Amino acid sequence: MADNVNSIAGKVVVITGASSGLGEATARHLSALGATVALGARRVDRLQSLAADLTSHGGRTLAIATDVTDRHQVSRLVDTAVQTFGRVDVMINNAGLMPQSLLERLKIDEWDRMVDVNIKGVLYGIAAALPYMTRQKSGHFVNVSSVAGHKVRSGSTIYSATKHAVRVISEGLRQEVKPYGIRTTIISPGAVDTELPDTITDPDVAVAMRKFYDDIAISADAFAHAVAYALGQPEDVDVNEILFRPTRQEY
Ligand SMILES: NC(=O)c1ccc[n+]([C@@H]2O[C@H](COP(=O)([O-])OP(=O)(O)OC[C@H]3O[C@@H](n4cnc5c(N)ncnc54)[C@H](OP(=O)(O)O)[C@@H]3O)[C@@H](O)[C@H]2O)c1
Repeated sequence: MADNVNSIAGKVVVITGASSGLGEATARHLSALGATVALGARRVDRLQSLAADLTSHGGRTLAIATDVTDRHQVSRLVDTAVQTFGRVDVMINNAGLMPQSLLERLKIDEWDRMVDVNIKGVLYGIAAALPYMTRQKSGHFVNVSSVAGHKVRSGSTIYSATKHAVRVISEGLRQEVKPYGIRTTIISPGAVDTELPDTITDPDVAVAMRKFYDDIAISADAFAHAVAYALGQPEDVDVNEILFRPTRQEY
């Protein structure tokens, strides 16, 4: 399989969670490869400065304040991308959080938040883009899972559950969109250097996870390149899942 980055140029790519970390790195990389990027997240100041930076380097972009727990806001993001750029070729459902803790701590608000953002946010992204893609008879969903979508460990039960759900939803979607020529890719990263560990409020877990990330996390560019690899394949090649870790990561 060749890495045909030229086929990325001109694609209209919607990215949720584009204000930092993996989403931001992907927006920068795809924009540099000639894609048009529509950026969604809640921190609109960060989105706007990213958009301004991409535009100053010749990129086509727009930034829209989007809370993925509100399906109307996710629809508005995708609808605006289509109204502005004429189509949506790629929907990257990336927004997520990882406030890990033991179940016995009963951080139920955080459980709710992970379900709302990590699962329902992905569903709302699918709901917003799917009607356009079925009409176009083309498109590509990239849904962000995790190594935690393959394994469960003490302290990461709910996060793991949400990331397993992303993989199940993505596989069901893959089968259902066959008549429309739509592609689906799950990307399951290991530890990548982003703001994700900052979402942990349990002090014990936060300290341990910070040390884990400081020791082994790799650059968010690794994720951006994985996305570009999947998008850059010929239309008849559907890369369904990419699982990657830092070379030093054991589990
Ligand atoms: N970094 C890793 O090691 C790693 C490993 C495996 C999987 N992942 C997954 O990668 C994805 C991106 O995380 P990251 O590592 O890049 O962490 P990050 O730097 O914390 O970025 C998370 C992004 O999600 C957005 N977000 C959070 N809640 C949101 C909401 N309600 N509505 C819209 N956007 C929301 C944030 O934007 P706002 O706060 O501005 O809304 C931010 O842009 C997540 O799904 C995460 O689970 C990361």
